[in-house]
Amino acid sequence: MCGIVGYVGEKQALEVVVDGLRRMEYRGYDSAGIAVVVGDHLDIRKKAGKLANLESLLGADPLEAATLGIGHTRWATHGGPTDINAHPHVSADGSVALIHNGIIENFARLRDELAQRGIELTSQTDTEVAAHLLAEHLGQCEGDLAEAMRRTCRQLDGAFTLVAVVADHQDVVVAARRNSPLVIGLGEGENFVASDVAAFVSYTRQALELGQDQVVEMTRDRVVITDFFGEVVEGKPFTITWDAAAAEKGGYDLFMQKEIAEQPRAVADALRGRFGVDGQLVLDEMRLTDSQLREIDKIVVVACGTAFHAGLVAKYAIEHWTRIPVDVELASEFRYRDPIVDARTLTIAISQSGETMDTLMALRYAREQGAQALAICNTVGSTIPRESDAVLYTYAGPEIAVASTKAFLTQIIAAYLVGLYLAQVRGNMYGDEIAAVMKELNDAPQAVDLVLDTSEGVEQLAAELAEARSVLFIGRHVGYPVALEGALKLKELAYMHAEGFAAGELKHGPIALIEPGLPVICIVPSPRGRAVLHDKILSNIQEVRARGARTIVIAEEGDESVTEFADHLIRVPAVPTLMQPLVTTVPLQVFACAMATAKGHDVDQPRNLAKSVTVE
Ligand code: F6R
Repeated sequence: MCGIVGYVGEKQALEVVVDGLRRMEYRGYDSAGIAVVVGDHLDIRKKAGKLANLESLLGADPLEAATLGIGHTRWATHGGPTDINAHPHVSADGSVALIHNGIIENFARLRDELAQRGIELTSQTDTEVAAHLLAEHLGQCEGDLAEAMRRTCRQLDGAFTLVAVVADHQDVVVAARRNSPLVIGLGEGENFVASDVAAFVSYTRQALELGQDQVVEMTRDRVVITDFFGEVVEGKPFTITWDAAAAEKGGYDLFMQKEIAEQPRAVADALRGRFGVDGQLVLDEMRLTDSQLREIDKIVVVACGTAFHAGLVAKYAIEHWTRIPVDVELASEFRYRDPIVDARTLTIAISQSGETMDTLMALRYAREQGAQALAICNTVGSTIPRESDAVLYTYAGPEIAVASTKAFLTQIIAAYLVGLYLAQVRGNMYGDEIAAVMKELNDAPQAVDLVLDTSEGVEQLAAELAEARSVLFIGRHVGYPVALEGALKLKELAYMHAEGFAAGELKHGPIALIEPGLPVICIVPSPRGRAVLHDKILSNIQEVRARGARTIVIAEEGDESVTEFADHLIRVPAVPTLMQPLVTTVPLQVFACAMATAKGHDVDQPRNLAKSVTVE
């Protein structure tokens, strides 16, 4: 949530910062703002609404030329999305401009203390206190900006990334990080800080991870990192493996369309290089020994939203392959219910961004109880993998659309790889059995490619159903989490009532929702898998149809038994049972995207949402 960028170098800061904000707008789009340092003063513009509003303002009232600047795109927490609450916030003496991502939990007390010293806040944000405190400290430590930032951070509770510039400090940006994300981009004669590498990848691919509770002081040719007490520390260097084009629309109207279409490639990349020369599966980072993995007697998956659904899919495969019980927990609930985890528990945190606060906190809680932690993540160097004992990256490339698509498919792939890895280490499966599953996985990109061919029909169907008040989704076995995912996509993009059910649960209550014409999307398992599941869902489809539902049936090629019960049939390639979520989810993504488009919504930036949820 909230995108932050800072620049110091030789280029026009305005261009670099606005370009960075454009690439990070998916992180929040309630307001945007920018500050540059010009001689002994700051020049600031900020505006409620999307970045386009700020750009119009800049068109009418340009900023002065400068080579040092910061910018912010906001997802509102404290204070509504107004011009006044937009960042940057400025200290009472006008000397400091500061931007923030996160929540300062003790802000009310700090605000009251500032008031006692005669400083009244002008906004409703928690952020503004940090701007005033930084200015106060700066006055007390002879203009040493990094030291002033360290003193400020030591006063703050909560999660925060802060970036600040100061009038008459024309060559220095200072930033700090606790819990919320921040990375440094290292250029030639220029440096960057940002919430996400996407902000600067068109200028440099060399980056530094900033650790927890660290402050960075950055000039055009120097980056100094310290902890909050001034001890110098090293950042962890890494190279960004994708280029700026990966974060562009590449000829598509929408990022979501592009990311749906990229799925065959993303799945292939998630699988690439996973077999070592000795035929053993390879993870990216493994700080757990085989004997530790053999000791595991329980797996707990913690995740949110779409990543949670990927965890639910993975449970079917991991339990089947390893016979280890797998609990899949909503990360936001996990640590508040006294869960049973210990040194023999493997906690798997699934997160596209690697920064989701609920997931991070659940992971930390599990580790505090002695559990081992494994991260499945798309964002290299983000907090969740950094705090885990083992890491498997999904390599889906940047996901810009707020609704998750390629991340979901690659999270399933990665979780399957973890299951196979455990089965290998613990001897639950023979090598040739693992190789057979790997072959099925390796066939998946082609199957996903084929299912994309159905998109046009699905888009037409969505346009036909655009006036529906509600859509239900039903599935069984791995089709159940797919139903949940289909409903989530529709809610977040089309702003309509949508619910996913385990098809067998319908008769226990939800069937009362069925009324004539209600669209029910039915995800049918393969008759070649567990025939009983297939037969039972056919009964469930008939039950809803008998009550007037309009049935949209997703079934594999060649399954003719469904035809007579389908008002509309979407065909997917025939794949093994555990691979089905990889193909059945795709039409649901296309459906939600098309439905939102038909309703005239902003698909890539749905209302009230942000891509990376860094508050609890
Ligand atoms: C839905 C969606 C969200 C995320 C959730 C977790 O389309 O994108 O539900 O899946 O916020 O985000 P990550 O995976 O970054 O932890």
